[in-house]
Amino acid sequence: MTAYNHDVLIIGSGAAGLSLALHVDKNAKIGVLSKGTLTSASTYYAQGGVAAVLDETDSVDAHIQDTLTAGAGLCHEDAVRFTVENGPGAIQWLVDMGVDFTTQKDKTSYHLAKEGGHSHRRIIHAADATGFAISRSLIEQAQQQDNIQLLEDYIAIDLITLRKLGLPGDRCIGAYILNQRTGHVEVHLSKAVILATGGASKAYRYTSNPDVATGDGIAMAWRAGCRVANMEFNQFHPTCLYHPEAKSFLVTEAIRGEGGILKLPNGERFMHRFDERAELAPRDIVARAIDHEMKRLGADCLYLDISHKSPEFITEHFPTVYQRCLELGIDITQRAIPVVPAAHYTCGGVIVDLDGQTDLEGLYTIGESSFTGLHGANRMASNSLLECFVFAQSASKKINHQLKEDFTFPEISAWDESMVTDSDEDVIISHNWDELRSFMWDYVGIVRTDKRLQRARNRIELLKQEIHDYYSNYRVSNDLLELRNLVTVSELIVQCAQLRKESRGLHFTLDYPHLHKAITDSVLTPPNAPLFTARKTSAFCSGNK
Ligand code: FAD
Ligand code: SIN
Repeated sequence: MTAYNHDVLIIGSGAAGLSLALHVDKNAKIGVLSKGTLTSASTYYAQGGVAAVLDETDSVDAHIQDTLTAGAGLCHEDAVRFTVENGPGAIQWLVDMGVDFTTQKDKTSYHLAKEGGHSHRRIIHAADATGFAISRSLIEQAQQQDNIQLLEDYIAIDLITLRKLGLPGDRCIGAYILNQRTGHVEVHLSKAVILATGGASKAYRYTSNPDVATGDGIAMAWRAGCRVANMEFNQFHPTCLYHPEAKSFLVTEAIRGEGGILKLPNGERFMHRFDERAELAPRDIVARAIDHEMKRLGADCLYLDISHKSPEFITEHFPTVYQRCLELGIDITQRAIPVVPAAHYTCGGVIVDLDGQTDLEGLYTIGESSFTGLHGANRMASNSLLECFVFAQSASKKINHQLKEDFTFPEISAWDESMVTDSDEDVIISHNWDELRSFMWDYVGIVRTDKRLQRARNRIELLKQEIHDYYSNYRVSNDLLELRNLVTVSELIVQCAQLRKESRGLHFTLDYPHLHKAITDSVLTPPNAPLFTARKTSAFCSGNK
């Protein structure tokens, strides 16, 4: 069968995937896939910026300490140090790529913003549209490279491994990919395969994330035998816009960094009752406080007020938020913004080492789909883009080395395309999507209990059976593939949450409201795990092995 051959196959065109493509050796033949357009990625929507030590009043130690504190005891210190130390270099690389960061008025230095958990101003940004500026520069750079092929509307379905082919050894050698433009499933073979597929926040009814965030890479790696960790720590951003016409619109934390005040519907300030850092406490604390006050008052939303600042300041620093709110009839220079928490970031993911290497040879994971140990039980604001850039660079070094090895691909059989499409399938799949995202929000959200988690798990079991039936009888479609992956990642989230008999960081359960003394990651090991392990973790248990 015809297979498409690459040296490096990168699944994902966000900050992680594109940066890696630009770091890999220029002689390598690289394919970069995107499920939709190149900008259908969380990266494109990032507002606040990238955290790094860029000012002599700040220090590497302070950034490390803030990250460790936000992470509530679960960060891996080696990963934190590695990321923070490489931060300034990563920012310089972005500047070299042409990213136009906001400067101070005199243009002699960059304007640095502040966000929750940071003890210093250290967020470099492009007004409140940092992701747009980064995506534009990286896409332009990638389009200029002859060795990089950018493939839009290509959905990776599953990884191809030697073990799945019944061959000796275990190694990832490519992926089955649905080309949405032709409707056919193609075989793409590659010496190195990189999952840069982003997070899984679409598992929840309310999210700040774009539609692509369905945890595909995490689910694919799991099916291929890789361990995952700490999936219970799904971060809820405290302030997403509450408006019937605003789908997934974030109101950046940088507004709180510039003095924005959270208020109850009666205008009363409340955050100081929950934490002495008030509006600038880490996200888990702020989101939980908002959730608590909304439930206590029966309120549909709370409010974020920056209207005490001058209109010039607001429109200069927050043009995107100002414009979007204005379109919806909210003038943020005059009144407070209605906000609610929403699922925002997947702190857990595929376990990797400091080179992005997973448990499976030939397979790397970088960006939000990876678990590097950086974020612990709660990611500190603007550390995630930084992680994408730092690990893209370290992974590229390992991959460049790996490309020097000789490798011959085996013969691969074609995907079975004989299966039918069923007219009923769309309705059932969309119903299952809604059901899953609703019970994940209700039972596995900001506040959990054993009973709620078990209820979610029972429903996931039923959905798994239905999906197995569609998957073995009908032709694959984007919705079916995403639903299958969402069910897998939801199960991983619930399983990790059930392992954690304590409340820590983003995981809060009424049944165990306190910290437990033993500090450990929740590690899940798939039944088909290879013997090799990329990174040692202190595991609660070996999952369902
Ligand atoms: P993404 O940027 O999400 O890219 C994933 C890519 O994978 C996409 O191209 C997608 O199409 C592709 N893909 C997924 N599945 C498949 C598949 N099966 N086949 C083919 N392709 C696939 N972090 C910060 O540090 N600072 C911020 O200011 C900030 N603001 C944010 C604001 C918003 C609204 C959101 C949603 C997130 C924000 N974050 C921020 C988080 C940060 O943007 C993300 O963690 C980061 O961009 C993730 O980058 P990534 O490359 O890992 O994934
Ligand atoms: C924001 O701008 O509030 C998002 C920052 C982040 O998620 O790191």
